[in-house]
Amino acid sequence: MSEKKVRVAILGATGAVGTELIALLQERQFPVASLKLLASPRSAGRKISFGGESLTVEPVEEKSFQGIDLVLASAGGSTSKKWAEVAVKAGAVTIDNSSAFRMDPDVPLIVPEINPEAASQHQGIIANPNCTTILMGMAVYPLHRIQPIDRIIVATYQSASGAGARAMEEVKIQSRAILEGKEPQAEILPYPLAFNLFPHNSPLGENGYCQEEMKMVNETRKIFNAPQLRVSATCIRVPVLRAHSEAINLEFNAPFPVQKAREILSATPGVRLVEDWQKNYFPMPIEASGQDDVFVGRIRQDISHPNCLELWLSGDQIRKGAALNAIQIAELLVEKNCLKPQRIAVSV
Ligand code: A2P
Repeated sequence: MSEKKVRVAILGATGAVGTELIALLQERQFPVASLKLLASPRSAGRKISFGGESLTVEPVEEKSFQGIDLVLASAGGSTSKKWAEVAVKAGAVTIDNSSAFRMDPDVPLIVPEINPEAASQHQGIIANPNCTTILMGMAVYPLHRIQPIDRIIVATYQSASGAGARAMEEVKIQSRAILEGKEPQAEILPYPLAFNLFPHNSPLGENGYCQEEMKMVNETRKIFNAPQLRVSATCIRVPVLRAHSEAINLEFNAPFPVQKAREILSATPGVRLVEDWQKNYFPMPIEASGQDDVFVGRIRQDISHPNCLELWLSGDQIRKGAALNAIQIAELLVEKNCLKPQRIAVSV
């Protein structure tokens, strides 16, 4: 029997998400024919092991994408804007983790559990949604599918990992400094995050919402294919290393029984219902870290509105919020034969 194998490049291979992409390719036994690790010139020559081999990180350049079928990009929006088209021209499909292409009408924005059908409509670039949007969608869409949601109000509690590996390191250094009685220094994030929190520092728009908050509005509408869905988000950075949490209020078009929501979510692949009301035990970022499932719990009737439910979630920002979702999209492309067939090496 023949097996399709894919020539993969990871752009941003040395970052927090890139590191997880490499681990997931192995863990999920993605059919890798070859793996090229790309980053900035700063990381050129660094060795990273993959499948028992030691691979050398290369600085990304024009010819990096020749002979590549699939690019997994997680090196920031400006890097993606610069290289995604080059990769497409070279014949590769790019799954991009940045926000550069997410709202482009020609670019599918995919959470495989929600809108896998969009994968076959790509023109070379597929966008991986914002982490908070993916995690919220995982918990909310299974309910929306059964009974339409009119309005979502969400507050996020976002970990340092969303700002990259260097931000995670910065929080550890700040924590040590504070415990030693020293002044914490902030270079990657705008303010000290250790023992602190602050509203998300993405640029503010004229409506008073920051870009991160508007991503939750616009991306959720696109993924759910619900342009009228009303969403209001408040995004907060908290001193947690790698899992985000969210407090979500859902307004349906009619009452939605709590028990029905529990039943639906406990049967949803990729969602884990985590609730022990006796022990006051619910999803926590420390337990969701490193896990594939989005932990959802504390589902309750909103006492202020008969059509509303409250729920709480924690989910690993680097895995389902980024790298895992990207790998699942890649798996979809292989399954649906949506990589350019002539570029897929076949091993017998
Ligand atoms: P490098 O480590 O060489 O700086 P994170 O999101 O964890 O901060 O990771 C960002 C990733 O994107 C890293 O792998 C980083 O490489 C890479 N990167 C950042 N800027 C560029 C660039 N201009 N060209 C290529 N890769 C880049």
